[in-house]
Formats: sequence, C-alpha cells, structure tokens
Amino acid sequence: MDRLVIKGGKRLKGEVEISGAKNAALPAIAAALLASGEHMVARVPDLRDIKTMGRLLENMGAEFHYKPHKAVITTNKINNLEAPYELVKEMRASVLVLGPMLARFGKAKVSLPGGCAIGARPINLHLMGLEKMGAKIELESGYVIASAKRLKGADIHFDTVTVTGTENLMMAASLAKGTTILRNAAREPEVADLASALTAMGARINGAGKSTIEIEGADELRPLTHKVIPDRIEAGTFMAIAGITGGDITIRGCVPEHVKAFLIKLKAAGLRINEGADWVRVIGPGSLKAVNIKTAPYPGFPTDMQAQFMALMSIAKGTSIITETIFENRFMHVAELRRMGANISFKGNVATVRGAKGLKGANVMATDLRASASLVVAALRAEGETTIHRVYHLDRGYEKIEEKLTRLGADVRRKKR
Ligand code: EPZ
Repeated sequence: MDRLVIKGGKRLKGEVEISGAKNAALPAIAAALLASGEHMVARVPDLRDIKTMGRLLENMGAEFHYKPHKAVITTNKINNLEAPYELVKEMRASVLVLGPMLARFGKAKVSLPGGCAIGARPINLHLMGLEKMGAKIELESGYVIASAKRLKGADIHFDTVTVTGTENLMMAASLAKGTTILRNAAREPEVADLASALTAMGARINGAGKSTIEIEGADELRPLTHKVIPDRIEAGTFMAIAGITGGDITIRGCVPEHVKAFLIKLKAAGLRINEGADWVRVIGPGSLKAVNIKTAPYPGFPTDMQAQFMALMSIAKGTSIITETIFENRFMHVAELRRMGANISFKGNVATVRGAKGLKGANVMATDLRASASLVVAALRAEGETTIHRVYHLDRGYEKIEEKLTRLGADVRRKKR
C-alpha cells in the first residue's frame, strides 16, 4: 500500500488546474446503459473509481475504453444484468447502474452496498422510488433483485435528500412510460450535470438543480456525448491548502458558483478571495480566524469539504464548532488530526476545534477519501514530516495529487511498497 510523505511548512504558490468531477463522471458513465451504441464522456478524471465503474460495465458485456480524459463506452452487447458484490464493495457508486439497467432491460441484480467508513448509507430511497415506478424489488442473499416490464412515471417524494438516489431515479424515469416527479430532490451540481447528459441523449427533464424535477419518459434514448463539470471538491481542497499554508493559489478551470458556501466560510476565516468566470484566487492570511460550519445538502456547506475545513480550523485563532448533518460517522479524521497536535473533541455529530499554535508531522492513517484529503491539508502546514498511510483512499478522488502539489511548491513524495 502506497504512503505519502509530506514535509510541511511551505507557502504554496502558483496555479492548479482542476480535473473533472468524479461524482459527475460516475453517473454519466452509468447513463450509457440507457441506450445502445457508442457513448463518449469527456473530462473524466483518471481515478481508481472510474476504473472500477469501467470494470463493472465490462462485466455486464459493455466495452469500456478510457484514455485520459475520455471514456468511450459501447453498450450494444449487454448480456449480464448484475453488479456483483466484489465490485460494489469497492465502490458504493456502483449502485448507479440499478436505475438504468432496470429501465432499459426490465431486470437488474445489484449487490447491496452495506455500510462504510462514514455511515450506514442505506439505499432504501432508491428502492422506494423504483417500487413507486412499478418495479418489483426483492432482497436475496445481499442482493437487490429488481424487475419491471416497463417502469411507469410516478410522483416520488424523498424523505431525505439523496444525491445518487435522485440520479438513479432520474435515469430510470428517462425511459419510463409517462411523467415522473421527484420531490425534495438533490440540487447538487452533479445532479444537474447528469440531467444535461440525459437531455443530450433525448430525455426531457425540467427543474434539474431545483428540488422538484420533472422527467417525461422516452421510449428510446440515443447515445451520449457529454463533458462533465469540474470537481468542486477538488477545487475546495486546494482552497483549504492555500489557506492553511498562507499561500497564494489560483484555482483554474473551476465553477466558482459551485463552491459559494465554501467561499463564504473561507472569507470569514480571513482568506482573501478573487474570482473570475472559471477561476478563483485564494490568498491565505498570516493568522486564520475560527469559523463555525454545519454541513447541509447543496447549496449548503458540503459534507465532502467538512474534513478539509476542520484541518484548516485546527490552527485558527479561537474555537470553531463543526456540525456534520449528512453522515453519522464522518469524524474519523479527528483522531488522526489529533496525532498531529490538533485540539479537537467531538460528541455525536458536533466537533469542537480549539485552534492550536501549530501542527507537528506524524504517522497518520487515511480512513476514507475526504478524511485523507484533510490529512494532506494538515500535513502541508505541519512542522516536520508526515507519513499518510493507506493513501489509496485519496487516489479514489484526487487526480495526480502529488504532481499538482509539487508544482505549487510542496515537498511531497509517494513511497510505494
Ligand atoms: C453522494 O453520496 C456522493 N457520492 C458522496 O461523495 C457525498 O458525500 C454524498 O452524496 C453527499 O453529498 C457520489 O456522488 C458518488 P446521499 P450518496 O444518498 O449519494 C441517507 C465522496 O467523498 N440516505 O446523498 O451515497 C444517507 O445515509 C463522497 O466523494 C438514506 O437514508 O449520498 C445519508 O445520510 C462520499 N437512504 C444521506 O441520505 C437512501 O436511500 C445523504 O446521502 C439514500 C441516502
């Protein structure tokens, strides 16, 4: 297992180009299952999760060719309507094949994802929606077995805002008979991006990016050509890095609108921000101010930035209260940040961060994707050397992270085992 060794204490400066969004590329690739033919998805980041999605589609009989940053998927010969445990356990987003498979082929067998490092993460709302659309759902030996002659439009209300749940049902509804209304739908930019991909395939979708989405099902869709949006979480992570190192980083190729909630908190923490149409320049202050945050579905403060923001707050002046409302177990990074000298405690979903004078390098363990990003943020500030173990978590979501950091002046090396 690879490790990252970071010598902290440098002010990072320069420009960084943001990659395509993993969480927009994954549903776009799954959407290829909705139509027969050759599909093309551009700006797909070169990440382990993308390869896992490719393997999943190949296992179903599709051809998947990936060359940075373009995925070409051919779906003429789908002959296996199953997402097996081995692949779903590697990547929960595999569940995104359920809606398209069921809608196009009338059948799907998908392993239940199970819990993960950040929470229980059930898929009951995905299943509730498909049932409302007329699917028969059975659970057998850890698998969801879904069938339907043809899905029909339905009026569906989500009790909880769910990103992949909204995406799964939006894809299923695109081929259903009649109109589907999704209420209390996720408004994340990745959902809106999937809607534009589906629209390019011939789907009729209204309201994507809003909490009520209306989808008029089509009998058939055409192959997809789509370029995914830039990764707002990668962009936010580099902003946190500029802040913690007192650096000056221009983040290029991003959508400032997608990181609004985060920018507001960064400004409150004392960072200087300039922005243009597709760039944000972030200048870190000499001393950071403590700021409270509470995660919420988009357009609120993203749970995927909570860990990185906590790392930033670990050296801020004062006490900051961080409330996580999306996942019940998303404080795994706290114990690791403490190893570096951070003064953080938590009870339930509320963490109290008392700003420390500084951080010190240590051996730390990555536990999930964003937790590992927070360790990188902290390590870049820490005095001395930090070794981040199990860095494969980071590789799921950050393309060429060491190269990008090195170009900004960081001292970072990957040690292979
Ligand atoms: C997506 O996960 C993202 N993954 C996550 O990205 C992100 O953290 C999360 O949305 C929240 O923004 C992808 O887009 C591939 P949810 P998802 O369904 O869709 C509960 C990353 O680091 N819920 O929106 O799985 C659930 O338990 C990650 O890139 C139900 O109760 O998250 C959670 O508390 C990790 N029943 C809340 O809803 C359901 O059927 C939101 O989860 C579905 C969800």
